[in-house]
Amino acid sequence: MTRKYVVRPETAVLTRGYDPSLSVGSARPAVFRSSTYVFSSPESAARAFEIALGKARPAPGENVDLIYARISHPNAQLLEDQVVPLERDATDAAVFNSGMAAITTVFLTFCPPGSTVVHTSPLYGGTQLFLDALLTPLGVRAISVDAGDAKALDAAIAAAKNLKLVLVETPANPTLRMSDIEAAARAAHAHPDRPLVAVDNTFLGPAFQHPLSLGADLVCYSATKYLSGFSDLLAGVVLAKDAELIGQLRGTRAVLGNILQPDECWMLNGRLVTVPLRMNKQSKNAARIATALADHPAVEELIYPALFKDPEQRRIRDKQCDYPGAIITLSLKGGRPAAFTFLRSLTIARNAVSLGGVESLACHPRTTTHSELSTAQLDQAGITEGMVRLSVGIESWHDLLADVRAALDALL
Ligand SMILES: Cc1ncc(COP(=O)(O)O)c(C=O)c1O
Repeated sequence: MTRKYVVRPETAVLTRGYDPSLSVGSARPAVFRSSTYVFSSPESAARAFEIALGKARPAPGENVDLIYARISHPNAQLLEDQVVPLERDATDAAVFNSGMAAITTVFLTFCPPGSTVVHTSPLYGGTQLFLDALLTPLGVRAISVDAGDAKALDAAIAAAKNLKLVLVETPANPTLRMSDIEAAARAAHAHPDRPLVAVDNTFLGPAFQHPLSLGADLVCYSATKYLSGFSDLLAGVVLAKDAELIGQLRGTRAVLGNILQPDECWMLNGRLVTVPLRMNKQSKNAARIATALADHPAVEELIYPALFKDPEQRRIRDKQCDYPGAIITLSLKGGRPAAFTFLRSLTIARNAVSLGGVESLACHPRTTTHSELSTAQLDQAGITEGMVRLSVGIESWHDLLADVRAALDALL
């Protein structure tokens, strides 16, 4: 008798999707760098193209020939299989060569000219720049709603015409304002156009926030951050519970040529199994540091989900987040000079953009990650001159706390 166990995500991520017999018995997958694949027959080649172009669907259990690495390759297929268990309720994934590639492919696939996008604000600077500089000129209308304002998001969705996509970035980079994913999905489902709901889950996913379970259609990641975790590769992932949506994204990806390359797929694959371990340790470290420094006299405001004061933000946090995560945003007294002195004074955490790696990093969002935003957009989003964003790593929290405290003391 064969026993079938339903395994938990941390087991599935180690056991699913890899057949050693396809890599000459190697316990870990090989890297397949080929740009092109030899067909088993001309008929199989024709069949593979029919399926790749969406003209036919593979029959259950059908072995479809690979074609060309811009369309897909074995390491992408493995990674797409193995990342799925990490995202609650996901069935399918598509991998891209950066987080921006993932997000822009979502827009270009689902938002034709003349359509409307509703999005929370702030967005990561690159996403906002894509909307302003590229998507709007292509004839897509972008309507911005302040993160956390559930009533305004509801109203904007209800009033939008030809609405194709609602993009929620929560917690928002860098203000950590949270938006209610379930409420956004409810409003989108009630809209006659039935727009898709996409969540940029980079800050808390996949360990601590589960948008597909809350009604979202697509979850987007900069996998450069927590999924990869070592600040040494660029990658993006989109996951869904509807294979059709991922199929459409793969179609656009094949045209744009922004699939993740085999070596990066292989590297990211090996990192997936430690995502929950790393994120848990990083979140615990951050909670210790945030709690200890919230009342430091150099700090005007310390923003950290576990310490939210606003009842509405607390409500959203309690409803949709398992743990507070590892980003701390500090508003320092003394504006930009204080922020720059703080960054110069750190000795363990380094002054760099990006986040989610095992090493702690800190930056000044107004002049770096969000410098694409206009002054009005920055002010509206509350990205102030005195704001610094700290991404907490896995170093000893005692050492990190001493480092951050000393950099704050330098401002007194
Ligand atoms: C929330 C968020 N989304 C998307 C991106 C873009 O990802 P990538 O740098 O991998 O293109 C970033 C990068 O910082 C981000 O913070």
